[in-house]
Amino acid sequence: MNFMSDNVSGAAPAILQALLDANADPAPSYGHDRLTARLQDSLRTLFDHPAMVSLPVATGTAANAIALACLCPPWGTIYCHEQSHVHVDECGAPEMHTGGAKLVPLPGADGKLSCDVLSDALARARKGFVHHQQPAVLSLTQATEAGRSYTPDETAALCAIAKRHGLKVHMDGARFANAIAHWGCAPEDATWRAGVDALCFGATKNGALGAEAILFFNPADAEQAGYRRKRSGHLFSKMRFLSAQLDAYARDDLWLRLARRANAAAHRLADGLAGLPGARLVYPVEANEVFIDLPLKIIEGLEAADAAFYRWDGTVVRLVTSWNAEDAVMDRFINLANHLARHDQRST
Ligand SMILES: Cc1ncc(COP(=O)(O)O)c(C=O)c1O
Repeated sequence: MNFMSDNVSGAAPAILQALLDANADPAPSYGHDRLTARLQDSLRTLFDHPAMVSLPVATGTAANAIALACLCPPWGTIYCHEQSHVHVDECGAPEMHTGGAKLVPLPGADGKLSCDVLSDALARARKGFVHHQQPAVLSLTQATEAGRSYTPDETAALCAIAKRHGLKVHMDGARFANAIAHWGCAPEDATWRAGVDALCFGATKNGALGAEAILFFNPADAEQAGYRRKRSGHLFSKMRFLSAQLDAYARDDLWLRLARRANAAAHRLADGLAGLPGARLVYPVEANEVFIDLPLKIIEGLEAADAAFYRWDGTVVRLVTSWNAEDAVMDRFINLANHLARHDQRST
């Protein structure tokens, strides 16, 4: 019963098989291989964008930092949510890779940015004033750190404001698959058709061993990307092994099938726990994460039974479900929580 993160789960069999297949024969190094070329095609087909440029890297932090560095000059401002991974959890990688861009954290309920907050921030920026950092990028996280996600219309509305002010739009899609599986929309409608310029298309959390793709929907934005990836140490000599994972992930809807299973498990948990006395679902479930406020006795009882999850904030806990979630495990957790709730009521 480990709900600490979707990173705790292993890799999907189809991805492991793709690695075994890629292992059979010698192949050219540094991305000049057949699988890396095939991946470009697979992603172009998936996103219905024939000119899109994609670069595999090994971590989400590298993907975000390299993408932001390609979109933002050192004197630029990157507007992001105050809880965003790029702002809170990347040890300054975006600042380092951009050569000093300023991340401006903005507030917003449920990890989401709103048009009002973004417009306000942009109205306060002094464009052309040489003493101030210059507005350059809007960074959105899909799904958000609170397990909610943007609809294509919400993304488009934010992008429209960004574009009016000359900003590029970056999307941290570490859980992009979960968001798309939730809304059932086309990936292109949630990205470039809505105005997103670069997407970090996450796979590691959703069944890959360790692979993410940076997608540039405007080839001109990718001009420096190869050099920046090399300087960051993410130009793998055996690139075919990153590409094999991502290619398998993109094909036959694997990314969506895995995400649907993780999302369904999150809903199962939320439905099973929300009715407990004293429980309160903190955010609607729109991906594979459940944030729920539980009585302390229940939290402690679950932990004593070796269930693993984050204590998020006070008695709010975060439960993250994975691509290989099993109903029986969800049900064991729910039954245990119910048992603890009954016991708690009897003892009060
Ligand atoms: C929203 C978000 N972005 C990016 C990442 C990528 O992180 P990593 O560099 O650990 O692959 C994570 C991982 O926790 C995340 O939650």
